[in-house]
Amino acid sequence: MLKFRQLYSLSVSSQKKTKRWYLEHINDFYVKESKRLQLRSRAAFKLMQINEKYQIYKQNQQILDLGAAPGSWSQVVSEKCNVVAIDLLEVSPIQNVKFIQGDIMDKQIMNQIRQFKFDVILSDMAPNVSGEHEADHQEISALNQIALLLSSFTLKTNGNLVMKTFVGSEEKLNYDYFRLFFKEFHREKPLSSKQESSELFYVGKGFSSDLIRDILQNTEKLQIYPIKIQDRLKNLIIDYKMFE
Ligand SMILES: C[S@@+](CC[C@H](N)C(=O)[O-])C[C@H]1O[C@@H](n2cnc3c(N)ncnc32)[C@H](O)[C@@H]1O
Repeated sequence: MLKFRQLYSLSVSSQKKTKRWYLEHINDFYVKESKRLQLRSRAAFKLMQINEKYQIYKQNQQILDLGAAPGSWSQVVSEKCNVVAIDLLEVSPIQNVKFIQGDIMDKQIMNQIRQFKFDVILSDMAPNVSGEHEADHQEISALNQIALLLSSFTLKTNGNLVMKTFVGSEEKLNYDYFRLFFKEFHREKPLSSKQESSELFYVGKGFSSDLIRDILQNTEKLQIYPIKIQDRLKNLIIDYKMFE
């Protein structure tokens, strides 16, 4: 009986949470704006605000959109650029967007993407959040690592990368590691990203793969880095050789 009561009160409290989420959602300024502008998600505003601050992409560039569903980032960039978009989920067609459905951790998908060269890589990829902040942080860190690996194969020298991540125990280490590959590297929390959400975005400008090339040629070059960064770089080289 006690168990039943506990279950009942749990389900009532989760119903209340769902209702609160729904009310907040329909009253949200960015949700209303995305409907008005026929954008597929309020996430579009995060990219627009990041681009306004950092000028990530320009007319006629080639863009890779990782984790594209339902498609609002692709909608925004495809107004000016050609886009290749990837997601586990289906994305209904958008003009100027070539969509590939699949998992970017899959070698076949990786090989399909590697036929292209991009000026900009965008990653709004995120795991299905469990609510366990640390577990979600670890999962998104793995997706961030794959986005960097893909950058090493397909991002042009001096290209730009925007990727979503979550705050967590290794965020500072991730930041110190990813910044090694860019001339400029920033953490950004756009206004449209909810304050209560642990998401933030890395914005890297001026990509270079020289570091990877250097280490592939001479592993002794690793030694100038702190041990934890060395471990990250060693893993990157292992993945690089595996997908090469
Ligand atoms: C926050 S949503 C992206 C929203 C999108 N930027 C938009 O504006 O409509 C995150 C997406 O990442 C995708 N995703 C997560 N892991 C992935 C993976 N391994 N390969 C491809 N897509 C992935 C999910 O399927 C989900 O659709």
